[in-house]
Amino acid sequence: MLITNQRKKIAIKYLKNLFLNVDDGADVIQGLTTIPKTLPPKYFYDRLGSELFEKICDLPEYYPTRTETTILTKACQEIVEITGICELVELGSGSSTKTRLLLSAYDNFGKPWQYIPIDVSSEILKNTALQLHQEYNNLSILGLVGTYEQALWQLPPSSLPQRMIIFLGSTLGNFTDEQSDQLFNEVRDILTMGDYFLLGIDLQKPIEILETAYNDNQGITAAFNLNMLSHLNNCFEGNFDIDLFKHQAIYNQEKQQIEMYLSAQKSHKVRLNKLDLEITFKESESILTEISRKFKLTEMQDFLGNYRLKTVKSWTDENKYFGLILTQLCS
Ligand code: SAH
Ligand code: AVI
Repeated sequence: MLITNQRKKIAIKYLKNLFLNVDDGADVIQGLTTIPKTLPPKYFYDRLGSELFEKICDLPEYYPTRTETTILTKACQEIVEITGICELVELGSGSSTKTRLLLSAYDNFGKPWQYIPIDVSSEILKNTALQLHQEYNNLSILGLVGTYEQALWQLPPSSLPQRMIIFLGSTLGNFTDEQSDQLFNEVRDILTMGDYFLLGIDLQKPIEILETAYNDNQGITAAFNLNMLSHLNNCFEGNFDIDLFKHQAIYNQEKQQIEMYLSAQKSHKVRLNKLDLEITFKESESILTEISRKFKLTEMQDFLGNYRLKTVKSWTDENKYFGLILTQLCS
């Protein structure tokens, strides 16, 4: 899809990796045939999953979104002054709601520039891109539908001398150590010297606040978790009965991470026809669907330094619930 006028363009590209079809479900087979069973969090996000996530962001219990918004509201002008006009690439952009704070500040330069949102959830990416195209005067948009790994390697050369990759919402918390290492290596290899990387991370805090945030009263987080099974049914002709599973979210103090599970309420079998896979569940057996790690700001800054991403400035809120780190690729 491509719409164009003289000042700004919009294009949505559906990525296909020629060498590895990441939608072939190999990760589902791998996750459901090992013990304990796991599933990758990217399967939360079909159309309904993205809608439910937007609802989670508005929940009184779910502090991360509004806290990061408060931080960004205060920091965005300073960020824009530090970086000057640059191309913005966003990993897991979703509805780009918080990003609008940055988009507005960069658009005020009054010069043509480009935003590249990347997301696996095609509907929300496409609808958001169309809205942003209407809202901003100088902004061209290239939406990339695919995984981070697919998209990062298919980025066109930067349209401006400087580029910033942004990763908000503490989505990094959903990555294992190994996955974080892979992502930061990719970010470092794609940026050129002097380019920026902006990272939002959720910080450690009392267990009650954390467990409440992932066990909301209205059951939206439970619906979000269970929707993963419906999404798998649609992708792979499956027969998961979501009534046979229960949402669980606990804080693992030792690993400093929330762990979300779907727990089978009785022993039964499930088939995923497209994957030619039959899975047996014992009563109370769980699938780990997400980890959500909680970090320490200074430790993360040190960690980023290992990838030549040097902290330029960091911000937090008055409770120190959430952190935002602006780094620059150095030699
Ligand atoms: N950045 C937004 C949305 C965070 S939710 C915010 O801060 O509120 C995580 C987003 O990442 C979702 O929109 C989801 O569709 C996307 N996502 C999850 N796994 C992904 C993957 N492997 N590759 C690309 N996008 C992914
Ligand atoms: C997208 N990600 C950072 C959210 C989180 O908090 O880990 C996903 C989420 N899971 C349950 N609630 C929100």
